[in-house]
Amino acid sequence: LRPVITIDGPSASGKGTVAALVARELGFHYLDSGALYRLAALYALREGVSWEDENQVARLAAQLPAAFTDDKAWLDGHDVSAAIRAEDIGMGASRIAALPSVRAALLERQRAYQQTPGLVADGRDMGSVVFPRAELKVFLTASAEERAARRYKQLIAKGESANLLQIQQDICDRDARDAARSVAPLRQEPDARLLDTSALTIDQAVNQVLQWFRE
Ligand code: CDP
Repeated sequence: LRPVITIDGPSASGKGTVAALVARELGFHYLDSGALYRLAALYALREGVSWEDENQVARLAAQLPAAFTDDKAWLDGHDVSAAIRAEDIGMGASRIAALPSVRAALLERQRAYQQTPGLVADGRDMGSVVFPRAELKVFLTASAEERAARRYKQLIAKGESANLLQIQQDICDRDARDAARSVAPLRQEPDARLLDTSALTIDQAVNQVLQWFRE
């Protein structure tokens, strides 16, 4: 038995933090699918391939020389953990994620993470496309204001300059694109539990997911 918990939701909702902690608590594997899209976007940039060029980006995604170890992401043997978190790479990830053949190229790679004793997978389409038979599906969200404030704090903590209004605008743009695209649009699955974390601490959100899973 290799149970899967999917945690889908919009950008900066805190799903990555919650998913990683739930995985640690249960001793499960963790898939950060957004990181794969970010790695593919960075790889395209470095190979001189335009984010609009579906065939070429899909070709790169299919042979993505990427790996994850503990808290690091690697591309071609280089530590790109910080590079893939840049705002422009997030934008690139969102662009290439709208291309059907790019999504197809990453599908089996994501499914391969389903291993004993279990998996927590975080993204946009984990419950709808990648693991439709997951034991527990969570749709994790927070208000747009709260998400912008969280992203702002993250950037400031990293010592980067940040503009709250700009961040709010970027989050709205990204949400709109993720929800409007024709492949795997972001939406709550009918069988997913809704977890609004606007007024919850990280611990409270983690405990809610664990409680649902143990029910
Ligand atoms: O950090 P943030 O939540 O903003 O983004 P992320 O989870 O790292 O994902 C980056 C982008 O990849 C998102 O804007 C989505 O467009 C895309 N993505 C996707 O389409 N499907 C997934 N399963 C994960 C991410």
